[in-house]
Amino acid sequence: MDPQTNPYAPGAGTPPPELAGRDVILNEARTAIQRNRLGKAARSFIFVGLRGVGKTVLLNEVQAIAEEDGALTDFLEVSANEPLSISIIGTLRSTLLKLDRAKGVSEKVKKGLRVLKSYVGAIKIKYENVEFSVDVDAETGIADSGKLSRDLADLFIAAGEAAKARETSIVILVDEFQNLSDEDFEALIMAIHRIDQKQLPLMVVGAGLPLLIKLTGDAKSYSERLFDYPDIGPLDATEARRALVAPANEAAVEFDDAAVSHIIERTQGYPYFLQEWGYQAWNCADGSPISADDVEKAEVRAVERLDKNFFRSRYERLSDPQKTYLRAMAQLGPGPHKTGDIADVLGKTSSQLGPTRDALITNGMIYSPKYGYAAFTVPLFDEFMRRAEP
Ligand SMILES: Nc1ncnc2c1ncn2[C@@H]1O[C@H](COP(=O)(O)OP(=O)(O)O)[C@@H](O)[C@H]1O
Ligand SMILES: [Mg+2]
Repeated sequence: MDPQTNPYAPGAGTPPPELAGRDVILNEARTAIQRNRLGKAARSFIFVGLRGVGKTVLLNEVQAIAEEDGALTDFLEVSANEPLSISIIGTLRSTLLKLDRAKGVSEKVKKGLRVLKSYVGAIKIKYENVEFSVDVDAETGIADSGKLSRDLADLFIAAGEAAKARETSIVILVDEFQNLSDEDFEALIMAIHRIDQKQLPLMVVGAGLPLLIKLTGDAKSYSERLFDYPDIGPLDATEARRALVAPANEAAVEFDDAAVSHIIERTQGYPYFLQEWGYQAWNCADGSPISADDVEKAEVRAVERLDKNFFRSRYERLSDPQKTYLRAMAQLGPGPHKTGDIADVLGKTSSQLGPTRDALITNGMIYSPKYGYAAFTVPLFDEFMRRAEP
């Protein structure tokens, strides 16, 4: 069928034609955002899940919900190049300027800008190249201690008070949360802790890989109390079917049952793969209905594309011993496998391989579905490993 009208959307953060299986979580997010704006207790939350399950898509949805609710929002992606403590300056600068432009002078908003200026003054000592220009004097003694956790809290409080004075809220979306430095993560938690105590309308909604919860001590216990960590996983069979069939139906195209079943079985409801299979199946089919034969042809192309980008990019980040371990797992099939069986393939003991296994778990490549077992976190990875060049 015509690729130009293909509704499917494989890609990082690309909005799917049908956002399946996420109604409950989005409703919870909506409630939290509304409560936060009204000064009622609401926990910030962080979507946790593997690559390709739809976390970035969810964050974008939450941003749209927040804007519908009248919040001022910004979307940040944490990268190794720029600490959050710096990117947040741009976010709050534009937010405060927007609040400042609203009707009537607000002392709280002016103060917010002055506090931002002193925050920038303190950050500049630590990092070079921080640019900031707003025509106000700094608020001496607030957010300028040079201790990030304290200064960020001061800044959040000032921004929250400014938003409250304007009867709105600030919602900051933070993607790739696992890339936060420990210092930034801790400072963020302390800042949110202060905001919560004062019930100010500022909220952080994050998304990241499961390895993000590596905090210790006070920061850890705060983070557990302050944040919900909803698990974002693959779609169940009903929702996977909906994700696949609804976009076709929208264009008056049907799927044969056998075609749907095959795709669900192969993709295991993994959102990224559903889009990829749907996309290729559409292009391979001559017309409605899309048949099992079409899907068979589509699968070859889908797998080829995954090999080139999705699988390959994860594979290349691994060390040689990690690759060897995964190859041994793959040799045994899709899994889960007993760690002892994997060790046998490699002629080693399970405890000798412990450190490699732990590193793979931290990387999000494998997980332990029950004691003494290891499994791939992404469907079809075993097949990829068997194809990949050593
Ligand atoms: N609920 C969903 N239903 C159907 N497809 C989805 C859903 N969520 C995400 N997708 C698709 O999955 C792919 C990956 O989404 P993305 O948000 O980038 O995942 P992540 O951020 O978790 O790596 C995209 O192609 C997107 O369109
Ligand atoms: Mg993402």
